[in-house]
Amino acid sequence: MQEFATFGQWLKHQRKSQGFTQSALAERINCAVVTLRKIESNDLRPSQQMVQRILTELAIPTAAQTDLLALARNEQALKRTNLPTPLTRLIGREYELGRALQSLRSGTRLVSIVGSPGVGKSRLSLQIASECRAFYPNGCYYLDCAQLQQVADFIPALANLFHIELSGKHDKLHTLVQALSGSNMLLVLDHSEHLLGIASIVGHLLQHLPGLSMLISSRSRLRIMGEQVLQVPPFGTAKPTTVTKQHFTRGAVPCACHRTLCRASTEPCCSF
Ligand SMILES: Nc1ncnc2c1ncn2[C@@H]1O[C@H](COP(=O)(O)OP(=O)(O)O)[C@@H](O)[C@H]1O
Ligand SMILES: [Mg+2]
Repeated sequence: MQEFATFGQWLKHQRKSQGFTQSALAERINCAVVTLRKIESNDLRPSQQMVQRILTELAIPTAAQTDLLALARNEQALKRTNLPTPLTRLIGREYELGRALQSLRSGTRLVSIVGSPGVGKSRLSLQIASECRAFYPNGCYYLDCAQLQQVADFIPALANLFHIELSGKHDKLHTLVQALSGSNMLLVLDHSEHLLGIASIVGHLLQHLPGLSMLISSRSRLRIMGEQVLQVPPFGTAKPTTVTKQHFTRGAVPCACHRTLCRASTEPCCSF
């Protein structure tokens, strides 16, 4: 197979070489012309069912289909990132930055940056995400949940972010998982405090997408399995000089206790 960076590029080339116009092929695979156009320009990520219909209509031999399905799934287009670029340099926060990077690099897949309004959660999250881009071959993505009104808006917003087509006939979460399977990426969810009900969806995504990690910036933690909470203190708070438990906890409130006390409490909050 000739090398193509994206499934969209391959599709355009193949369609033309077989003499199909966009509208003729769209009709055969039963989708709107605009959908096909977006797939070809990598503005829309096709579902696996859609890829399969395309391969069948274009009579692609079974032997070549595996590579093409993988190309569509891994989608090099996802190497793009939409992380906003901060206008000013990060001041301080070396400790919090180091802890979060260390945690993500060592395999923690859900880190929640928690703190009071204006303390610098969003700024810190963007720094963390931009400094660990190299670890995520399919990119680091940012979703500002402040724009979402309710939990029901969450899956469509993710689909929109990743250019995934959600068909009315299929379960939306399932479609999302299928489309993102095999991707190795970081998703930053900012301002999610008013949508704590997304916890079960976040849990489902992490469980079914082993290559996905999430960084959440919120006033409150999500309280799901595997979540590590990094409490961001206001500037001026004395910084720990060694790795201690005060800032990195499993509880919404910084854990200032000793490990033995934490273990002895009815609700242990310490992740160490
Ligand atoms: N460590 C920092 N270095 C530079 N600017 C910061 C830092 N922390 C916060 N800011 C700035 O302060 C403002 C508030 O920070 P922000 O991250 O939006 O707070 P939060 O998300 O906790 O509400 C923003 O303009 C942000 O760029
Ligand atoms: Mg913020």
